[in-house]
Amino acid sequence: MEATISDIRQEYKKGKLTESSTNDNPFRQFEEWLDEAIKQKVNEPTAMLVATVSAEGHPSTRTVLLKELENGTFIFFTNYESRKGRQLAGNPYISLSFVWHELERQVHIEGKAEKCPAKVSDNYFSTRPYKSRIGARISPQSQVIGSRVQIMKAFASEALKWMGKEIKRPDNWGGYAVTPTRFEFWQGRESRLHDRIQYTLQPDGSWEKVRLAP
Ligand SMILES: Cc1cc2nc3c(=O)[nH]c(=O)nc-3n(C[C@H](O)[C@H](O)[C@H](O)COP(=O)(O)O)c2cc1C
Repeated sequence: MEATISDIRQEYKKGKLTESSTNDNPFRQFEEWLDEAIKQKVNEPTAMLVATVSAEGHPSTRTVLLKELENGTFIFFTNYESRKGRQLAGNPYISLSFVWHELERQVHIEGKAEKCPAKVSDNYFSTRPYKSRIGARISPQSQVIGSRVQIMKAFASEALKWMGKEIKRPDNWGGYAVTPTRFEFWQGRESRLHDRIQYTLQPDGSWEKVRLAP
């Protein structure tokens, strides 16, 4: 007999997290965990759920890829006129969540997003595969479109236009750099008594590290 949804559960036994074993700097701790996720060949280790809030105070989420960890910021790239882009223009507060199921770990980050300098976006754009660069130019991300054919036609004609040329980054596409004020590292434990270590940014620039109840 097929299991019902409520019957699906597993015990988490792969690791533990203590105040003393975690780095006092949450960025170093994050890098350690990301490295492990990459080494352990977790599927899409850089994928993160990004939450933004509308002008009406309604949250929404979507997955994007972390592309750079630079000067204490988490950087991802997207369309500035997308739904998330429009929400961030009105409210720059954001949260990022990494879930590494294979390691029974999650990391939540809260902070503020700002657009990256054009040069950072240009540099990353130039490293993207040719078709992704064309796609970024023609896709009105998050807008209603009539059909897939419409987008395929736009792609084909844009590709023709840029043949043999350096594809220019469109102004409505680029990076957001997220400056964190809170991190939470979560390690699943037995009997749902999980470990949660929270870091919050203090006015003097230091990080306060505490344990949260599971
Ligand atoms: C694994 C994965 C990675 C993704 N990476 C990105 C990304 O880096 N940038 C992006 O704009 N969308 C990415 N997407 C698509 C987004 O989830 C989303 O559909 C898109 O950005 C539009 O979101 P919005 O309408 O909420 O703005 C990714 C989706 C998945 C499942």
